[in-house]
Amino acid sequence: MTLRIGETAPDFDVETTNGKINFHDWIGDSWAFFFSHPADYTPVCTTEMGRTAQLADEFAKRNTKPIGLSTDTVEEHKTWILDVNDTQNTSLTFPIVADPDLKIAKLYEMIHPSESATAAVRSVFIIDPNKKIRLTMTYPMSVGRNFDEILRVIDALQLGDAKRVATPADWRPGDKVIIPPSISNDEAKDIFPQGWDEVRSYLRLTEV
Ligand code: BEZ
Repeated sequence: MTLRIGETAPDFDVETTNGKINFHDWIGDSWAFFFSHPADYTPVCTTEMGRTAQLADEFAKRNTKPIGLSTDTVEEHKTWILDVNDTQNTSLTFPIVADPDLKIAKLYEMIHPSESATAAVRSVFIIDPNKKIRLTMTYPMSVGRNFDEILRVIDALQLGDAKRVATPADWRPGDKVIIPPSISNDEAKDIFPQGWDEVRSYLRLTEV
């Protein structure tokens, strides 16, 4: 099964470092940043876990809960977290899914067999409060993710939902946004009374 944007994120019950959870219940009315990594006690993963913990306030500001996964056990995760906290100077409190039998990793297509039959690649799923998949990204094992981009895309998705806009290349909060082609000029006059720059009939930029 291919997991696509707009589809409901598959639900599951699983053991995590914060106890047993039902994924959808755990997401609740929040957004979720669900991400996999190859293994505990590996260098790139250690920096990513530390960075996620350091950004706890940034995720909370965006009503977004981080949750990690690797195909290790709760006991392994818990002892590794001590190392993450020590080496990355942080305090990791978000849950990490234990998936030693690869059940969730396979459900979310985090195992790419040409890379490894047992370790997950670096998958990202941004899931909204309706449990819909809003973004997927896949990074190779050897490249740590860009957490500025993860926060940026959450900002862009949430702004798009709130204001009915799209965001241009390299958009940053505060930059001009795009009025989507699905909104006619007549409708746009009501939604964007501040007006817009019409660069082309299909490219209208406004401020929100
Ligand atoms: C790492 O986290 O450092 C890593 C894990 C698997 C392959 C390559 C790097």
